[in-house]
Amino acid sequence: MPQLLHLDSSADLDHSVSRAVTAHFSDIWHSLGADHSVIYRDLHRDAVPHLPTSALHWAPHLRAAGEVAPPEAEALQKELIDEVVSADVVVIGAPMYNWSVPSTLKAWIDYIHVPGITVPFDAPTRPLEGKPVVVVSSRGNEYGPGTQNEGADHTVPQLQQVLGTALGMQVYVVLIDLTLASRVPAMAPLVPQSEAALAAARSSVAELADKLGRGLG
Ligand SMILES: Cc1cc2nc3c(=O)[nH]c(=O)nc-3n(C[C@H](O)[C@H](O)[C@H](O)COP(=O)(O)O)c2cc1C
Repeated sequence: MPQLLHLDSSADLDHSVSRAVTAHFSDIWHSLGADHSVIYRDLHRDAVPHLPTSALHWAPHLRAAGEVAPPEAEALQKELIDEVVSADVVVIGAPMYNWSVPSTLKAWIDYIHVPGITVPFDAPTRPLEGKPVVVVSSRGNEYGPGTQNEGADHTVPQLQQVLGTALGMQVYVVLIDLTLASRVPAMAPLVPQSEAALAAARSSVAELADKLGRGLG
């Protein structure tokens, strides 16, 4: 039973671009067959708390003497890790907030990036190795090569580092630039470019959902 884990983190519940695009991914996934299931987690509406203690960064057997974690936080960490491990594919809505990821998404990362459990430390433990993850990153401005903001994106590189380099996941990135064009009067001439970026993102996720979901039936 092919399973998608669908995460959103935008704080915009009405006009979010990343939510619309991840929902499109989910819709295509569902359309591949009744056996294609989706687990949905809204990291904004149902935010996970900040780590209550740094002990949770380590697998229990790697904790120093006296480093203990509250049982309810351990249970939440296990639930979040089990959820991502059991998924066949993951899609993450990752808007740019102050050149980085929303703090709600960062809190989720802090729970699931755990030496000795999800990343190798004293043993070659890497349960997420090779798992496809689609990152949908919406940003108000533009950050591509040759733009004024080139190099200022710390959203996607952070996710590539954690999900790809550390956890070993296969990261696909879908970018949507200029989402603020329709809101900021000075950006009005960029509206057609912004609409084209959204259309391109929708077709990229449709293609990816189809490609990643099809072989799994
Ligand atoms: C708290 C906050 C911080 C933001 N910081 C940036 C930023 O650093 N750079 C940028 O280009 N846009 C920034 N924006 C604009 C968002 O990236 C843009 O509205 C994007 O579409 C948000 O994703 P969403 O449409 O899925 O909510 C920010 C928006 C918010 C709410």
